[in-house]
Amino acid sequence: MLLTAEDFEQEADRLLPLEVFSYLAGGAGQETTLARNTAQWAEIGLMPRHLRNLAGGTAARQILGAALAFPALVAPMAFQRLACPEGEAAMRLAAAAQGIGMVLSCQTSVAPEDLPQAPGPLWFQLYLQPDPQVTRALAARALAAGAEALVVTIDAPINGLRNREMRAGFRLPQGVQAVMMPPPPQLPEGGSLVFDGLMALAPVWADLAALCAESPVPVLAKGVLHPDDAALAIEAGCAGVVVSNHGGRVLDGVPGVADVLPAIRARLPGLPVLADGGIRQGSDIFKALALGADAVLIGRPAFYGLAVDGARGASQVLRRLREEFEVTMALCGCRSPDEIGPETLYLKR
Ligand SMILES: Cc1cc2nc3c(=O)[nH]c(=O)nc-3n(C[C@H](O)[C@H](O)[C@H](O)COP(=O)(O)O)c2cc1C
Repeated sequence: MLLTAEDFEQEADRLLPLEVFSYLAGGAGQETTLARNTAQWAEIGLMPRHLRNLAGGTAARQILGAALAFPALVAPMAFQRLACPEGEAAMRLAAAAQGIGMVLSCQTSVAPEDLPQAPGPLWFQLYLQPDPQVTRALAARALAAGAEALVVTIDAPINGLRNREMRAGFRLPQGVQAVMMPPPPQLPEGGSLVFDGLMALAPVWADLAALCAESPVPVLAKGVLHPDDAALAIEAGCAGVVVSNHGGRVLDGVPGVADVLPAIRARLPGLPVLADGGIRQGSDIFKALALGADAVLIGRPAFYGLAVDGARGASQVLRRLREEFEVTMALCGCRSPDEIGPETLYLKR
């Protein structure tokens, strides 16, 4: 019986070709950060509180004007047609069925215009492109299709070296591609591929500020781990940040989000702070909120659900996370997400 996110992960591993599963599940380098991402939540204890009157309680939360049945959105993840033919369209339905939002990746394999009309927030993730006109066109296309916020990923100007995926020989199969993206830039021959190539074209804070100044919708910076970068993102005009290490997929050896979340929350009092990485149970969502997140992004578990049973599988994974989150809230004596704070945790000294 498939119950938890872990069950769906094992089933996806069984069903998918090895190279596809390696692309989804793998991380950069020796996967130290990938392992940290799940281990960090297990190290944090919960402190139950009893006999409180929780009648009328709710897991719902508003974030940037978006109503969420529980404080989560599906994380931006590229190429969801790797999981099932409907790809991002199925993910949109699954998120809507559970009353939460979805962040569409700019590397989507389904065009934003082809997503089904569905209730619940749709946000759009993008990378700042070397040509600002291209960035503008990507954002405009997503906004025309109904996106209500932009999530600019700042932690991956170059691809991480994902050994597991490379060893498995992952290539995009025929028919699955990033339908919105222009062809990759021509890189100069010779010299350093990193410094003379991709980093020579990589964006800087002023490019983010230029996008924020033009954007008719709120912009979040995704991939922040340093409190100073969180402050710089707000200075650049972002409405908030997503604390993330990209699911351990870019630079191995960086901290888990739980390690840095309290310092970033302290630096941005009252501003939207989201977090992702290694969320596998509802109690992980609870712990992220207790450490200062307003909401989390659900990554791989939703993709695994999609691989196992399309929209229905992803929806099942999200529903289970919500149930686990509500049970954790209730047993820790919290009537709403606003009541989840550091005092609801048991931190070993
Ligand atoms: C297969 C896959 C593709 C991803 N593609 C993107 C992407 O296009 N843009 C982005 O900002 N993050 C991308 N991410 C990172 C996720 O948004 C998120 O930060 C991460 O998956 C969270 O970790 P978790 O999957 O362990 O929960 C991707 C992650 C995975 C697993």
